[in-house]
Amino acid sequence: MKSILVTGSSGLIGSEVCSFFDEAGWKVHGLDNNQRAVFFGESGDTRWNQRRLQSDLREFHHHELDIRHREQVIALLAELKPDAIVHTAAQPSHDRAAAIPFDDFDTNAVGTLNLLEAARRACPESPFVHMSTNKVYGDRPNAIPLKELETRWEYDDPKFKNGIPESFSIDQSKHSLFGASKVAADILVQEYGRYFGMPTCCLRGGCLTGPNHSGVELHGFLSFLVRCNLEEREYRVFGYKGKQVRDNIHAVDVARFIREFIEAPRQGEVYNIGGGKPNSCSILEAFQMVERFSNKPMKYTYVDENRIGDHICYYSDLSKMREHYPTWDITISLEETVSQITEAWHGRLRERVTS
Ligand SMILES: NC(=O)c1ccc[n+]([C@@H]2O[C@H](COP(=O)([O-])OP(=O)(O)OC[C@H]3O[C@@H](n4cnc5c(N)ncnc54)[C@H](O)[C@@H]3O)[C@@H](O)[C@H]2O)c1
Repeated sequence: MKSILVTGSSGLIGSEVCSFFDEAGWKVHGLDNNQRAVFFGESGDTRWNQRRLQSDLREFHHHELDIRHREQVIALLAELKPDAIVHTAAQPSHDRAAAIPFDDFDTNAVGTLNLLEAARRACPESPFVHMSTNKVYGDRPNAIPLKELETRWEYDDPKFKNGIPESFSIDQSKHSLFGASKVAADILVQEYGRYFGMPTCCLRGGCLTGPNHSGVELHGFLSFLVRCNLEEREYRVFGYKGKQVRDNIHAVDVARFIREFIEAPRQGEVYNIGGGKPNSCSILEAFQMVERFSNKPMKYTYVDENRIGDHICYYSDLSKMREHYPTWDITISLEETVSQITEAWHGRLRERVTS
C-alpha cells in the first residue's frame, strides 16, 4: 500500500488531498497542529476537519507536529519514508503576515526548507508537491492595462486574454511579507528539483476554495463571504469598487491535479493553478451568486482603501497544466462550488447552534 504525507492536513487543501488519496487506496499521514487557530483566532480553528478525517477515512494517521520543528520533521520523514509528499501547511494570509513576520517566515520559508531537506535525506525519489501562491508575482499584475466593466475589471491587453502565465516576472514588485516568504519557499522547491534532481513542483494558487475551508476575513474570501451572508453579517469590501477579480478553483480539482503530478512527476516545475477565466468573479459578482443560493441579501460596507498589494484583476493561465497533463481539467464550476460552500456553512452553523 502506498503512503502519502500531507502537511496542513486539517486545512482546506490538505484535507481534500487526504480524502482524495484515501479513496484511491493510499495510506494517508496528516500533519497539522491547528496553527490556523493561532493565526486567526477561534474562527480559524481546524480541529473539526481533523476529527472529520479521523472518523471518515479508512487509513488516516494524524501527526500533531509543527513544521518549524526541524528535528521532529526530519525524524518523521525518516520514519515514514512516504511515497509522496504534499505540502500545504502555511501561514496563508497576505495581510496577517505584517503583524507576525517571524512566524510567517519561519512557517512558510523555513518550514518548507525543513520538509525539503528531510525528504531529500529520507525519500528523494518521492514526488514533492508544494502549494505556492499567485502572490509570488507581487502586485506586478496591477501594471497590466485594465478596462472597467459594469461589475468587474478586465485585462485590456490581448497578451493576457487567457490570464497570467508562469513566465510572468516575480521580481521587483510589492509582495507583502507573505508573498516574500512564499517566494523563498517557491524558489527552494524549484531548487531541490533543479539542483538535487528531486521530483518537485510549485502550484501557484489563485483562489483555492471549497466546502471545507475555515474562512476568515483575512483568508478564504469565498468561504468567509458566504458565512457573512448566511449569518447576515456585514462583509467589508476593500477598494477597487468591489470589482476586483479572483479566479476560483475547487479543492477537489487541485487534488486531482496533484495526483496527475504524483503519477507522472517532473523536476522543479511551476504551474499556475486557479479557476481560470471561466471560474473567475469579482466581489460584486460573488455577492449576486451567493444571494441566489441563500435567498438572503448581502450586507456590506465599502472601505475606500484597497488592501496593500492586492490584485485588481487576476486569473490564471492554465495552458501549461493542460499541456503537461492533458487528462486534467477543471471539473467543478464556480456556481457548483458556491452552492457547496453555502450548503456546508448551513450545516456547520446549525451544528454550532445545537452543540
Ligand atoms: N486558499 C487559498 O485561496 C490559497 C491561495 C493560494 C495559495 N494557497 C496556499 O495553499 C496552501 C493551503 O492553503 P489552505 O487554504 O488550505 O490553508 P489552510 O489555512 O486552510 O490550511 C493550512 C493548514 O496548515 C496548518 N499549519 C499552519 N502552520 C503550521 C505549522 N507551522 N505546522 C503544522 N501545521 C501548520 C494550519 O493549522 C491549517 O490547518 C497554503 O500554502 C496557501 O498559502 C491558498
